[in-house]
Amino acid sequence: MNSYDFGAGPADMSKPCLPDRFTPLFHTSSWKGLDARERLRYNQLHALYFNEQLAFFEDGLADRLLAAALRLPLEPALSRRLSDFLAEEERHTDMFRRLNRLYSPALYESEHYRFVKVGAAGRALLDWAASKPALFPLFIWVMLLQEERAVYYSREIIRSGDALEPHFVAAHRLHLADEAGHVRYDEDLIALFWAGASPRLRAVNARLLRWALAEFFNTPKRGTLSVLDELCREFPRLAPEVPGMKREMLALTGDEDYERTLYSRGIVPKAFSLLDQWPELAQLSKVMMGYRPGEAAA
Ligand SMILES: [Fe+2]
Ligand SMILES: [Fe+2]
Repeated sequence: MNSYDFGAGPADMSKPCLPDRFTPLFHTSSWKGLDARERLRYNQLHALYFNEQLAFFEDGLADRLLAAALRLPLEPALSRRLSDFLAEEERHTDMFRRLNRLYSPALYESEHYRFVKVGAAGRALLDWAASKPALFPLFIWVMLLQEERAVYYSREIIRSGDALEPHFVAAHRLHLADEAGHVRYDEDLIALFWAGASPRLRAVNARLLRWALAEFFNTPKRGTLSVLDELCREFPRLAPEVPGMKREMLALTGDEDYERTLYSRGIVPKAFSLLDQWPELAQLSKVMMGYRPGEAAA
């Protein structure tokens, strides 16, 4: 059984935690203006934010959605798979929170989320909607896209090996061991809730999904910008540069090369091939530039 033990001991602050290409600033010209220490620290802070995002979706979305699915009369084998899925996500949330606290006790002393900020009303709305997968099946696509992307990122982090911080590599190895199975279980949920919805409900959910992807997933906003604020707090010489850095990050919206680093057939092949089966989801290509319905895998 997976013990979710990514190792004790102090974090290795001399190493980055993610490949730089997984951070948005790397894709802007501002990156060239940072010195080696600033680049390293930006990478580390963005990695903490990335872990927060993983924990937020496991805790705020997957947990609610799976608990709701488990209240339905399901065939026993599916019910068992979804119970395991739910239990694993709860352990992942705990693991990523422990990892962030080990890595940066000062930032996570009193809160789980330093960069992901969702107000009480937004959180209540998400909790309510995620608990109703029959009415809001769009969240299953959100989960599938996030989980398959997490699998890709974990593989790339593991592939980078010794170049990255060892606790992060160990945690992503543990996460990967479960997530590949989750991507398969998401298919069960699509069969259950998306295929089971009326064409009219699917059309409404397709529009909501398009909005949600544009607003929360595809482009650098809120959390990514607050990572820069923290970097500036630690390196005050960057203060005059930060507005320009933020402008450049926001301008990545609609940059096809950048968007293809987030979602592409190479990164989320299963999700894209499942999206292809539903004509109402072809419109997602407008907000997810790496998605071209029906395009052959590269
Ligand atoms: Fe997970
Ligand atoms: Fe998962």
